[in-house]
Amino acid sequence: MPKKQDKRELTEVFQSSDKIYAPSKKIIKEANVPDYEKTLKNAAKNPLKFWEEAAMDLTWFKPWEKTFDDKKKPFYKWFVGGKCNLAYNALDRHVGTEIENKLAIIFEDENGTEKKYTYKELYFEVNKLVNALRGYGVKKGDRVAIYMPNIPEISMAMLACAKIGAMHSVVYAGFSSQALADRINDARAKVIFTADGSFRRGKVIDLKSIVDEAIKQTKTIKRVIVVKNNKQPIKFNKKLDVWFDDFIKGQPTEAKAAKMDAEDPAFVLYTSGTTSKPKGIVHVHGGYPVGVLRTIKWVFDLKGDEVFWCTADPGWITGHSYIIYGPLLAGITTVQYEGMPDMPEPDRIWKVVEKYNVNVLYTAPTLIRAMMKYGAKWPQMHAMPSLRILGSVGEPINPEAWKWYHKYVGKGKCPVMDTWWQTETGMNMITPLPSAPLKAGSACKPFPGIIADVVDKKGKKVPVGKGGFLVIRNQWPSMIRTIFNNPERYIKTYWSEVKGVFFTGDVAFKDKDGYFWIQGRTDDVLKVAGHRIGTAEVESSFVSHPAVVEAGVIGVPDPVKGEVIKAFLILNAKAVASDELKIEIIKHVRHNLGPVAVIKEVEFVDKLPKTRSGKIMRRVLKAKELGLPLGDTSSLV
Ligand code: WTA
Repeated sequence: MPKKQDKRELTEVFQSSDKIYAPSKKIIKEANVPDYEKTLKNAAKNPLKFWEEAAMDLTWFKPWEKTFDDKKKPFYKWFVGGKCNLAYNALDRHVGTEIENKLAIIFEDENGTEKKYTYKELYFEVNKLVNALRGYGVKKGDRVAIYMPNIPEISMAMLACAKIGAMHSVVYAGFSSQALADRINDARAKVIFTADGSFRRGKVIDLKSIVDEAIKQTKTIKRVIVVKNNKQPIKFNKKLDVWFDDFIKGQPTEAKAAKMDAEDPAFVLYTSGTTSKPKGIVHVHGGYPVGVLRTIKWVFDLKGDEVFWCTADPGWITGHSYIIYGPLLAGITTVQYEGMPDMPEPDRIWKVVEKYNVNVLYTAPTLIRAMMKYGAKWPQMHAMPSLRILGSVGEPINPEAWKWYHKYVGKGKCPVMDTWWQTETGMNMITPLPSAPLKAGSACKPFPGIIADVVDKKGKKVPVGKGGFLVIRNQWPSMIRTIFNNPERYIKTYWSEVKGVFFTGDVAFKDKDGYFWIQGRTDDVLKVAGHRIGTAEVESSFVSHPAVVEAGVIGVPDPVKGEVIKAFLILNAKAVASDELKIEIIKHVRHNLGPVAVIKEVEFVDKLPKTRSGKIMRRVLKAKELGLPLGDTSSLV
């Protein structure tokens, strides 16, 4: 829980730009939602009706009896009594329609290997996996861990779990064995999916050995299913390991989807919070796809035949909602690319867009800034006529990056959808639609049916232009249901900071036109290259090095990665400060947390600024580091 002294001062007055990028006549004419303001107004009149209509886009085995139930708030329920299945909606229902022969997945890896699956082919593969998993005893309610690269088999594994009603817990393959073990243990996962290795910048990352290391520290894993991805040798443990292809060999290509209650959990996805223990965010079979399908259709203006490329990794919520479930729920084609966007040359990303006629490109500011560094000549070499809509997610996009993206990638014709949302929200929450007037660097207004606001600690609206806490005033179908194994933490983190509203942990301000400008986190969560990581997690990893007794970690601005980590460390009496020791400690943390922890600098100090109760005041460290005013230091000892 963030404490008062750790929060950013909320008195700053921010600057916004009022230049409007008006939608073209053509865009308005073609848009699924041509009248932006009217649609917002209509949805605001009756959000429940709005979501009921959205839910009709899915297939229900049994219709719901009650749209929304807040009797046990904040454990809200949606579509109560309804029966459905997330994977059935993403896959099965398209089979037997004209969608079945359409490409569901286009895959390419860094070396240029290509694979394509139609909906029908994907359906068969998933069914084989469902049958194999069921044969192995995986059933409704079980948890299955997934630690894989961005390859078609990760989509298959996720869909197969959802079809059975087992919860998948995908762990980003840039996390370390320790982080993976912690997540397996919290979820008590029975089975894990992985691959021999993954391609990254021409190198092979050995994933299987990370899994081997992790499961030494767990008791629940009974099977390791390994995709032969790049044929590098692995240590094969006959008792535990099975090759993916052998696992599904000979299995029937038909399988029935489990009839799930709308409120049955579909998956858990761990994300960083303010303590060193990650939170298992739980999403459900009914509401989650309602929110994801409605947002992907409207924000990215889908007509039904798009090629959609979200460059995130399936290991994050962006990948869950907009690489896998969103595009498949909508029956369009999703692109999975395994590797770096600048390999072998900085225009690989634009080449992929052209090669597959990508219509929607959804990426992160950190990637846009990395491409800006290479120069506009690279996107200028590619006309990319198929592109219609651009998206951005994961961190605030600075106006310069927005304009560059709009001008050189979208050639001035493609609206940029800056989508603000979180693992907890499941879907885009504050975002323009293509028919909205845009401002570079603003996520625009809340999606229809969502009521967001900027308030002070007491929940009072702050004046226009003044920073405050970003909160959501109402509920929505794809919202987090609980924290796995920890309902108290769910209540405390999201529903106790400001009374009666969902606390996002972000700081924002609204301008005179009601546009939201997101400023970053108020708590101790960092966004390093768009990846969410907690300062407490990083600190506890530093302290696990024998030479370190105390650590204070802050995020410092980085022109490409958004934020990188700086650590202030107190060494134990025996340790001798040296550059070698710094390197050794950084290595230790990278090994401990995985490559997500990008550490820019380590500084050895004698003291750390603390409150009387002994809490490290990261705010003070940060202000000093950046040469900013210290703010309220009354609690500083
Ligand atoms: C940040 C990622 C500004 C924000 C989908 C949020 C953003 C956190 C934006 C959630 C955006 C995400 N503008 N900030 N468009 N999108 N964020 O859970 O701080 O990995 O709270 O979900 O990312 O990160 P998460």
